Amino acid sequence: MSSTGTGTQSSTPSRKRSKWDEDDDDDIPPAASIHPPKRRPKGTTRVHIDPDSPPPQLVTQRPTHSVYVPPRTHHIPITPSRSVYCYERLNQIEEGSYGIVFRARDKQTGDIVALKKLKLDDEKHGFPITALREVNALMNCRHENVVGIREVVVGDTLTQVFVVMDFIEHDLKSLLTVMPSPFLQSEIKTLMMQLLSAVKHCHDNWILHRDLKTSNLLMNNRGTIKVADFGLARRFGDPVGIGGMTQLVVTLWYRAPEILLGAKTYSTAVDMWSVGCIFAELLLKEPLFQAKGEIELLSMIMKLLGPPTPSIWPEMNTLPLTKTLSIPSPQPAQFRQKFPYMTAAGIDLLMSFLTYDPEQRITAEEALQHPYFSESPLPKHPDLFASFPSAAAGEKRRKPDSPTAPARPNYKLLLDIDMP
Ligand SMILES: Nc1ncnc2c1ncn2[C@@H]1O[C@H](COP(=O)(O)OP(=O)(O)OP(=O)(O)O)[C@@H](O)[C@H]1O
Ligand SMILES: [Mg+2]
Repeated sequence: MSSTGTGTQSSTPSRKRSKWDEDDDDDIPPAASIHPPKRRPKGTTRVHIDPDSPPPQLVTQRPTHSVYVPPRTHHIPITPSRSVYCYERLNQIEEGSYGIVFRARDKQTGDIVALKKLKLDDEKHGFPITALREVNALMNCRHENVVGIREVVVGDTLTQVFVVMDFIEHDLKSLLTVMPSPFLQSEIKTLMMQLLSAVKHCHDNWILHRDLKTSNLLMNNRGTIKVADFGLARRFGDPVGIGGMTQLVVTLWYRAPEILLGAKTYSTAVDMWSVGCIFAELLLKEPLFQAKGEIELLSMIMKLLGPPTPSIWPEMNTLPLTKTLSIPSPQPAQFRQKFPYMTAAGIDLLMSFLTYDPEQRITAEEALQHPYFSESPLPKHPDLFASFPSAAAGEKRRKPDSPTAPARPNYKLLLDIDMP
């Protein structure tokens, strides 16, 4: 796939912020944004038609395109993107590495949505392929547990492109930090089943997410998870170029060992490793491998799983960076010590995600059938989940209702009383 729009990009004035996302509340669009002036295209002249003269003769021309090309009416109609001024900006939710996310209101329908403004200002090579992949993956992976994309809108210049999505109240990372107590086992089961069904859906549609982590999992107040941020997503199954697939994927803490050891090709198993890290984070209420660098991460992984051996991971020795790794002497896995309250089935599922050999790592489809989900306590119905104030919507945490302390006695009055 090649990037598009390079020609016009350089001539477009690039401004860091559009009028829309400036901080003042003036969101009145420049007239040109919604109603562009009707200009005659350059080089055309207005034809004067004399009402008394006979109509001009129509000259039938041969079609200029091949007769084998279907007529334009047979294509999906291409409609221009709407303007960002169709939305009223409410507040900025977060600035990530690839975009700034805003909460906004659709002026026509009143719907509350999230707008992700793609960072295109510094782009030298036209519209970035990552942005195309993000939009493309979101459109191809529509699912109950994937954030819904509504449209792509444009601002004042060609560097202002916004992806409009359904607004979801929380991201799981922020939620885990403000929740007073961790999710219950029954809740973790529901969340994991939703995550697995979204990941299965992406994999069935040949999409690797490549950045699964708790901050990219959104959760609404009705107990439903939505996978978001397809900025690093990629189709798999297509032939891979000579350089192989990039290793600059997946946020460090959630990165699979085959990527850490420099594998040139990898597949759906990289997402399943991340799912394992998310499962552990839901149980622990904090990320599993909080490493500062790749070497530290590998040693943390080896401490939890025991060091890898060619018998459990035959391909390991073919990976470029394995020789640079100092592998400690064999030690048993530490899962039981780390997760003392998990059932045997729960530990088995966690170990199946966090398996060194990607060929043996569990798939999303297999994981959904795992006995962990059918043993007691059963997954909780999403309607029964507690709801939390949404930081993204600017809601504050309400103080829990509790009896107030007795009013302080009015000492002055007491002192004023004359003692007998
Ligand atoms: N549809 C949405 N509704 C509500 N909040 C959202 C939505 N999409 C994203 N966010 C919030 O914005 C944050 C950043 O969004 P996103 O991950 O898509 O951007 P990013 O630039 O790729 O971020 P990063 O590189 O940090 O992962 C999310 O963690 C979430 O808190
Ligand atoms: Mg993100």
